[in-house]
Amino acid sequence: MRVALAPRIALLALLALLAGCVAACSSDRTESASAELPRTTSQTQEATSQPAEAVDEAPEPEVFRTTLRAQRVEGPNGLQYGYNGLNPGPTIRVPLGAEVEIELINELEVPTTIHWHGLHVPFPMDGVVWIGAPVEPGETFVYSFRVDQPGTFWYHPHVDTARQVDAGLYGAFIVEDPIEADAMAAVDHDWVFVLDSIDEWSESGAHPVHGHGRVVRRWQANAVESGEARLAGGEVVRARFVNAANHGMAALEPVGVSADGSERSLEWMQLGSDQGLLPAARETDQILLASGDRADVLFSLAAGESLRVDAAGYSLNGGETGWPASPVLTFRAEGGAAASPLPDFPHLARGPSEDPGHTDILYSFAGTDRTDEWYINGEQFPNVTIETVPAGEPRILEVRNLSSSEHPFHIHGMSFEVLSVNGEAPEHYTLEDTWNLAIRDIVRLRIETTNRGDWMTHCHILEHAEAGMMTVLRVE
Ligand code: C2O
Ligand code: CU
Repeated sequence: MRVALAPRIALLALLALLAGCVAACSSDRTESASAELPRTTSQTQEATSQPAEAVDEAPEPEVFRTTLRAQRVEGPNGLQYGYNGLNPGPTIRVPLGAEVEIELINELEVPTTIHWHGLHVPFPMDGVVWIGAPVEPGETFVYSFRVDQPGTFWYHPHVDTARQVDAGLYGAFIVEDPIEADAMAAVDHDWVFVLDSIDEWSESGAHPVHGHGRVVRRWQANAVESGEARLAGGEVVRARFVNAANHGMAALEPVGVSADGSERSLEWMQLGSDQGLLPAARETDQILLASGDRADVLFSLAAGESLRVDAAGYSLNGGETGWPASPVLTFRAEGGAAASPLPDFPHLARGPSEDPGHTDILYSFAGTDRTDEWYINGEQFPNVTIETVPAGEPRILEVRNLSSSEHPFHIHGMSFEVLSVNGEAPEHYTLEDTWNLAIRDIVRLRIETTNRGDWMTHCHILEHAEAGMMTVLRVE
């Protein structure tokens, strides 16, 4: 890890000093210490709880039916909107193959929709409004589709998107695969953490991504900043992370903290990314989640240990900043036993597909934050050329980032395999729906064109998308 360690070590030394008196000292002392320092493993941390799970209202076992009310809420940190009064909205958890029926009731004073990020839904269910109409205030719409992809997905509006998502409209969507049942039997907690950063969109600022906004320093998981999730030593946790921030890049780094306060490295295995399990579990000391990205990790702690998840300082204008990391949340094991061995998941080992060498569609991303104007192939949505490909054959997309900002590329209605990044093939098969392009990156992607529709293709920095960095790929 390349972040500066000095502040963290100083903090740990202070915490170690305080640890002896946490129970005995007055709460003033603890609070004044935590006011000056980021809270990490002190005992005053707020609990990070799980979002509520959506209730299945359908009597038929193969159908999952639920209701989401888009509502005004009065949340902390100026949150204004939520589903069913909640931020994050309810987690939808269904088995692979389920027929899903979700009724959206719009109780807001503005039109809204729901887009099912990463799921291959039929086009009329995609929640976009450039052809169809949004759900007007007081209206209702039933989204129905079958889920055929296992993994961790999410949902959010696709109209006035930057503002509505920042105001709090989003939730996780988990599709469980029965082939993981044996491995999951050894998992004690299957938890989801929806990440967001505070105050990304501002009505007053003409260029909300400018200045401080480009580097997110404060993160929340399930609406709690730097909170704590508790477990027992020896329990196994599958943690599913969703980055629901408008533009903040979450460079997640696990930091193990032993019972005596010393930092240590620990086993934190990445199981999956956007589109389900990776071809192999991967030990990693950083997972970079761009806006819209997901990752599943697996770990176990011994009694008395903690795992702090930090977000390394990261800028859209050049990657890691080297600034001190910000704590996102801490897992703390109290009582219990030694760490348990991690179960093996049924990963489907496979290498990357061969790049056929030709290019069917080329997207060049350009623009500048000086004017906050962003382009794909020199065009700005909605004044764009609709590229058309016939359904059936896989197609090759090349995406080039010519600008001085990073851009997470996202496509609706289908997934893509990453064939290469700057000419280098990835180590293994990589199936995604959101992929961050660093400055000057050229990525080659292979899409399966089996789902017919007019699919939006855009940068998932929501402010960039709304400033024009969005186009349409028609599969017909
Ligand atoms: Cu998550 Cu078109 O978006
Ligand atoms: Cu962008």
